[in-house]
Amino acid sequence: MLFDSSMARRFAAAAAAGGLAVFLASSVLAQGTGAQAPAGSTPGAKPEAFGADWESWRAGNSVADLASLQRGARDFLNYCNGCHSLQYMRYSRIGQDLQIPPELLQKYLVPTSKKATDYIGTPMPGEDAVRWFGKQPPDLSLMARERGTDYIYRFLTTFYVDPSRSTGANNLQLPATAMPDVLSELEGLKRAVFRTETKDGTQEQVFDHFEMVAEGSLTREQYDGFVRDIVNFLDYVGEPAQAHRRALGVWVVLFLLVFTWLAWLLKKEYWKDVH
Ligand code: HEC
Repeated sequence: MLFDSSMARRFAAAAAAGGLAVFLASSVLAQGTGAQAPAGSTPGAKPEAFGADWESWRAGNSVADLASLQRGARDFLNYCNGCHSLQYMRYSRIGQDLQIPPELLQKYLVPTSKKATDYIGTPMPGEDAVRWFGKQPPDLSLMARERGTDYIYRFLTTFYVDPSRSTGANNLQLPATAMPDVLSELEGLKRAVFRTETKDGTQEQVFDHFEMVAEGSLTREQYDGFVRDIVNFLDYVGEPAQAHRRALGVWVVLFLLVFTWLAWLLKKEYWKDVH
């Protein structure tokens, strides 16, 4: 018999499976890059209602953006490392992954008392932290995985002045947080405006919007970018392999496409004599 139908079916199935795999892989990739959607303050939000939609703010970072990761590393070490460690990360690994030449790494990022191969500790002694803040600032190595990037983005963008707190600041994402508003020089100071709502006969103070009370050295847009870079860096630190994994995904899809094409050629070859 010229035509072995079971073989033909097998090839058709192989081609279909190839196509399905391509579809699955590309949808996985699409999910991976979904995080890049431009975000920050939602477009269309009225300026007078600044902050009213804070719960829907997204980090919008991308670990494929190397320049953003490099800025995030620099800014993290300058503004956060005084209190927070990255206990699972070494300076040298950052240098390799983020393509920072060793001389520059040593000169700008590694403290003089440290070696490039050291883990990123914090100079803040634990007992002092507890005395000053009431608790120890957590290690941030896995924070992006634990709480998510949007959470950290909102945490860093919803500090407001609150004289009733010992730090003088409060936060919408983590109410009554022990962390001071360490970025206020950049962002400026904002006040939270509350409105009174009556629910089941009891009155409640509900957050309405923010009002700037002092300008910082950055514009709102620049500050958003600054925070996004740090969040991006913490996203990378939480899973250093993810940049490589995404790059690998492209090759997997290409391989599957080529494979599907070969399967199709083969199918044509087998069916040639049938028609
Ligand atoms: C002056 C010390 C200090 C500095 C500087 C500082 N933090 Fe914190 N941070 C704290 C303390 C204290 C806490 C614990 C807050 C709490 O649990 O209420 C904290 C908590 C956090 C948390 C966890 C919030 C949670 O939900 O538990 C994140 C995320 C964070 N900080 C990010 C940062 C980033 C990013 C920077 C740099 C821009 C930074 N911090 C700079 C003191 C600091």
